[in-house]
Amino acid sequence: MLYAIETEEITKRFDDIVAVNKISISVKPGELFGLLGPNGAGKTTLISMLSTIAEPTSGKAKVWGFDVEKESSKVRENIGMVFQDTTLDDRLTGKENLDLHGRLYGLDGKTRKKRIEEVLALVELTERADSIVRTFSGGMMRRLEIARGLMHHPHVLFLDEPTLGLDPQTRNHIWEYIKTLNKVEGVTIVLTTHYMEEADHLCERIAIIDHGDIVALDTPEALKDRLGGDVIILQLENPDEKSKLCEIYDKNGCAKIVSRHNGEVFITVKNGEHQIPHILSLASNAGISILAVSLRKPTLDDVFLHHTGRAIRDKRASEIEQVGFKIRSRRK
Ligand SMILES: Nc1ncnc2c1ncn2[C@@H]1O[C@H](COP(=O)(O)OP(=O)(O)OP(=O)(O)O)[C@@H](O)[C@H]1O
Ligand SMILES: [Mg+2]
Repeated sequence: MLYAIETEEITKRFDDIVAVNKISISVKPGELFGLLGPNGAGKTTLISMLSTIAEPTSGKAKVWGFDVEKESSKVRENIGMVFQDTTLDDRLTGKENLDLHGRLYGLDGKTRKKRIEEVLALVELTERADSIVRTFSGGMMRRLEIARGLMHHPHVLFLDEPTLGLDPQTRNHIWEYIKTLNKVEGVTIVLTTHYMEEADHLCERIAIIDHGDIVALDTPEALKDRLGGDVIILQLENPDEKSKLCEIYDKNGCAKIVSRHNGEVFITVKNGEHQIPHILSLASNAGISILAVSLRKPTLDDVFLHHTGRAIRDKRASEIEQVGFKIRSRRK
């Protein structure tokens, strides 16, 4: 087997919506692969098809060598799944949730006991094993779900938004567990996220997905390098002058304009700090007033902006999502 996951033009339609549009990807065994994209990009739908929860409308996919439609039970034996919304039984203890999962996968009592200890240790929940899940924090629930996904020694683990709505410190901890289980247990991991830092920090390769299409796929470094240098962000006093300014830079051939967004112009240049005076003097000569200028290394957000013309998300959306997650996880 060459690939842990291989898809060929896999597609999912819901009436008029094309949630996943002819996606072809290959993930190597042992790889930590990310699907990065905004809300509604098609991330959950894609991994739902790979984990045999949803049937493809067309196209093909193999997971660990098995066809997701014709050999779905074989696929299920070889995968673990951590869903976007929590699916733990919060009336049971941590250990009981894991034991139930082990029974569903037909593990005998002795194997279950040993594996429960191993996976709890991996996510540092040994001391809370006998607490009722309702008393867990959001981060602890997420860790327990990851542990549960690992109970039956899957070859491939799907993590759908593993750190959605968690605070930065808990997020960092979960990143460490994900890295460890990828390295120590050798599990192939496919994770979805709309946090660019998460994809950047964890993934060996990232597919950037938007409106069901893959718009770019590579290592995080290569995706950023391809933008061609440092990013200079210019904030204009009059946003209506954005096009005029871009034309001037285009004519001078001094920089590659990445995008225009919210009254700002993003351009990439080599040796950004040396280019700033020239860039500012071109604007000043044209009578265009610049309110602020900043310089930074490209991020995956810049990559997303470059390919789609939009930012991956804004702060407001992030706040709404945090509230939503808290409501959902307390609702049960
Ligand atoms: N069961 C369904 N019926 C109809 N439309 C659906 C269904 N599931 C998903 N969709 C639509 O498919 C598109 C992709 O949804 P999906 O949940 O895969 O996105 P996502 O990238 O996981 O988003 P998020 O970051 O919000 O989790 C969206 O437009 C969504 O409304
Ligand atoms: Mg989703």
